[in-house]
Amino acid sequence: MVNLNEKERMNIVIVGHVDHGKSTVIGRLLADTNSLPEGKLESVKKYCERNSRPFEYAFLLDALKEEQSQGITIDTARCFFKTNKRQYVIIDAPGHIEFLKNMVTGASRAEAAALVIDAKEGIKENSKRHGYLLSMLGIKNIVILVNKMDLVDYNKEKFLNIVDEFNVFLKNININPKVYIPISAINGENIAFKSEKMRWYEGPIFLEVIDSFEKEESDENKPFRMPVQDIYKFTEDNDDRRIIAGTVLTGEIKIGDDVIFYPSFKKAKIKTIESFNEEKQFKLTAGMSKGFTLDTQIYIKRGELACKIGEKPSLVNHSFKVNLFWMGKNPMIYNKKYKLKINTTKEIVMLEKILNIIDASDLTTESNKQQIDKFDVAQCVLKTIRPIAFDLTSDNQKTGRFVIVDEYDIAGGGIILESLEQEKSIYDEQVNKREFIWNKSQISAIERANRFKQKPKFIVITGTNNEKIDIIARELEKILFSKGKNVYYLTLSQLLSGLESDINFSNFDRDEHIRRIGELARIITDIGIIFITGISELDDFELEQLKILNKPYEIIVIDIDGISNKREEIYSFSSDKSKEEILKIVENILLEKNIVEYYI
Ligand code: GTP
Ligand code: MG
Repeated sequence: MVNLNEKERMNIVIVGHVDHGKSTVIGRLLADTNSLPEGKLESVKKYCERNSRPFEYAFLLDALKEEQSQGITIDTARCFFKTNKRQYVIIDAPGHIEFLKNMVTGASRAEAAALVIDAKEGIKENSKRHGYLLSMLGIKNIVILVNKMDLVDYNKEKFLNIVDEFNVFLKNININPKVYIPISAINGENIAFKSEKMRWYEGPIFLEVIDSFEKEESDENKPFRMPVQDIYKFTEDNDDRRIIAGTVLTGEIKIGDDVIFYPSFKKAKIKTIESFNEEKQFKLTAGMSKGFTLDTQIYIKRGELACKIGEKPSLVNHSFKVNLFWMGKNPMIYNKKYKLKINTTKEIVMLEKILNIIDASDLTTESNKQQIDKFDVAQCVLKTIRPIAFDLTSDNQKTGRFVIVDEYDIAGGGIILESLEQEKSIYDEQVNKREFIWNKSQISAIERANRFKQKPKFIVITGTNNEKIDIIARELEKILFSKGKNVYYLTLSQLLSGLESDINFSNFDRDEHIRRIGELARIITDIGIIFITGISELDDFELEQLKILNKPYEIIVIDIDGISNKREEIYSFSSDKSKEEILKIVENILLEKNIVEYYI
């Protein structure tokens, strides 16, 4: 459900070097906006008097923390206060690690930040490191509070020096703070009230600045995004509709709208919205977990991202630049396969290149590191085997965030910064290497074709039903053989009991299955044979991989259920065509159109 308060609420994180006054800023803000519980300020002041301790605004936070922790469990110290404009949640970041972990895994999300710098001490390491973290997390609403101005006699020059120095640093990391404010948290100068002591400062005070921060566009107003969670089939006779179910992350969709699914690029129109025992609905909006049916039967898999045609599409790529926070017990290393979870999809991912690393425990930077250790924050390039659908976090936080699984544990989390130029796919690289090493035979392909009087071909039968695929493949093998062709049909069970006996079927690694079939096809077509196999629900990406692996020989696909996108290699039949009709047409295509015939 959409939380209506969400629109009116903003999360702000307060960061800065130790003792520069973060807690005091928050305490003062709460006190000056009358946001403290009745009598809290007085009771803390009295407590200090009784114990002969000077009163500190920071104590207010501790007192509140204790109170809150009795009620609900909270991961960070959070305080709430309201202005006329909206409600705020202030996060007193408990430490970089927790803060980062929560931010990258989406547990908490700051939309704005205040970075506190002590005017007397000046810029310290954490002032810079925290600046860097804000940039890494992509927080755009940033205010710099130059605190303890009372200790430098409210001096304008001192303030401007800090502004100049810090600006040079921030420019380097691409941060443009909204504003610098000279404050004295202890005395409440320029926090909720304009300072009389710093008349030279003409800018807005802290409270005004946070009210001026713009909220991100609300989820409903963003482009439609729904990761496919599941596909349910209607069970009644003759009803082959499927319900595509999932949670709408952003945007909305109505009956009659055109949708496109990424990364398969399949399109259809929304026919009905299925609301499971509820009143009929005509549209789905952000936050709803429901389903819809389509006007045409296209084959969609779990993990695809549904978008609306006419709106900004999501990106589809296998190579992207990310900011990654690593928390795995083993380091992230090159040449190892990990699992990337994004939205509802899971794909194999590998570390392609480390661009930059900082250690989040002490925030030191190390260059030339060859692995990503626990608590490192890395800017790096990741590469998946299959292309995935995503948005940049700057466009959509919900679809631009991912988690990395090492074995069975969540080992990292991050945000996608940039979609990179299409480079060579992992398969391309593999094939280039293989072809380079491959010791070519002295007998040429033409000589073999002459001998066998046929063109070698790789024929894939695809559809939704393995039994039907098997029947057609078997028949096709027989027909071609009876016409004098050298043909071989490899069945799935032959594969699984032999070449693929190391693959655990319950944990079926489909990409590896496709890769082995492609490699096998390359050998069998090289022998000069027509090689037939069946692969259920072959998608565009898999076809592309098979094409690459089988090069230089050609592939053709017989789709017996009309589930594929249109492509030149695919002969598609609607599922109501009989076996005989399909075989007749296929035979005609293969023999009459000289697809497998060879003439000298
Ligand atoms: P940590 O949570 O330990 O990192 O510190 P912090 O950044 O939260 O600082 P805190 O608010 O606890 O303040 C540190 C010390 O600075 C306290 O003794 C405050 O009283 C003092 N302080 C905070 N703001 C001001 C100010 O504006 N002027 C002066 N003179 N002292 C201040
Ligand atoms: Mg503090």
